[in-house]
Amino acid sequence: MGASRIGVVGMAVMGKSLALNIADNGFQVSVYNRSEGKTKEAVAEDRTGNIQGYFSLEEFIDSLESPKNILLMVKSGVPVDGMIDRLFPFLHEGDLIIDGGNSYFKDTVRRANALEKKGIHFFGMGVSGGEEGARRGPAIMPGGDRKAYERVRDILEAISAKAEDGEPCCKYTSSDGAGHYVKMVHNGIEYADMQIIAEGSVVMKQILGMDNRQMSEAFRHYNEGPLESYLIEITANLLQEPDDMGNGFLVDKILDSAEQKGTGKWTNLEAVDLGVNTSILAAGLNARILSSQKAERIQAAKIYSEEVPSLNLDKGKVLKELEGALLAAKIMSYAQGFALYRKAAESYGWDFNYREIASIFRAGCIIRARLLYDLMEEFGKNNDLVNIMLSESFAKKLHACVPGLRKVVSYCIAQGIACPAMSAALSYFDAYCTENSEANIIQAQRDYFGAHTYQRNDGREGYFHHAWVENI
Ligand code: 6PG
Repeated sequence: MGASRIGVVGMAVMGKSLALNIADNGFQVSVYNRSEGKTKEAVAEDRTGNIQGYFSLEEFIDSLESPKNILLMVKSGVPVDGMIDRLFPFLHEGDLIIDGGNSYFKDTVRRANALEKKGIHFFGMGVSGGEEGARRGPAIMPGGDRKAYERVRDILEAISAKAEDGEPCCKYTSSDGAGHYVKMVHNGIEYADMQIIAEGSVVMKQILGMDNRQMSEAFRHYNEGPLESYLIEITANLLQEPDDMGNGFLVDKILDSAEQKGTGKWTNLEAVDLGVNTSILAAGLNARILSSQKAERIQAAKIYSEEVPSLNLDKGKVLKELEGALLAAKIMSYAQGFALYRKAAESYGWDFNYREIASIFRAGCIIRARLLYDLMEEFGKNNDLVNIMLSESFAKKLHACVPGLRKVVSYCIAQGIACPAMSAALSYFDAYCTENSEANIIQAQRDYFGAHTYQRNDGREGYFHHAWVENI
């Protein structure tokens, strides 16, 4: 047995699935895990004979071709630093460490800089698609040292998902933390997308009185149109899943308290930091936060319960409007996510190809959707497009579907039903398309109470302060 092209450290679900995927694609791969049981499990599951399990880190590293390529699949945060420290004494100049976890991109930048000084390449790699994706073909977002990437490119492309045109959903993004950044914002969009769909299900259930089977059918129908996406597809499926521990549907027995691991939060912190409006992504995050305060919500619901008049709506018409609402909100959440990429590229010196980023998301990942082809087309024509909403083709789509969004949000408001992501999308649309905003009042207030100065809109250049008079 010769040396392995690559080694994987960490045999939890994602690490093991990637190792098996690498093996299936004909590459010899060494694996290591802190506890031996998981290494043995991976070796036992391998049907190709390409996986070599090691129980000591030194032997594991010795089993790799030089320069060495090591994929870390350990829990993000301190464990990544811990594992780098343990690997370091065995590494030599030119070796490469790839972090395939959901690491915070600033940690990736720090690690890449520190290791680069010691001659070791490091790159962060976003991986999306969950366990099944990792096993059969995830979307892969590598970022870091380009030359080092070229060394493992064939492996990563081979194990990645393939889009309809056969293109691998694995594209080099840019330097240092870019790959993890791309994945982080992917997750921010994922939170928004999930919330938008969840709100759609509430409209169906509470406003239209539909049962799970009818809702599932409606989502299945949506999935045949412009909304076609993995998340719509799984929602159609999960709505009909019977409860294996009782009667009825499982989804109705699941506690309405959403959890999160941090990537959606980072996306929004980043957006605030860089001054990008990601209100729909923030709505996805905030909805999870509020949902988790179940006890308070129960209390508040008792205090503020109110009778709302029934709207007597035409179901077919509302379902059509809802399709538009979901599409409009989805388009604008992509618009916000990609606006954040653009600002990040400027701020961190990354060279993003937005068509390629959209193309990575086409298969394997959680936000895979038909709409990504339209993004690819627009960014393919113009990588400098500041917001997809300004392109002709997206303007046409939004013209057609924003009226539906407006209607659906108005039904929710009338019925006292929260639709934070859809209403954030509508407000974003209205604010983005407003030539003269209310911000003159804000500037006047700032100048009034704090002499913060203001600029004029009548062509007079510079900043002014006015001696405001208390005239009432
Ligand atoms: C993916 C997902 C994945 C993420 C889960 C859970 O692309 O495969 O984004 O990386 O960890 O979706 O994330 P939350 O626990 O934050 O919902």
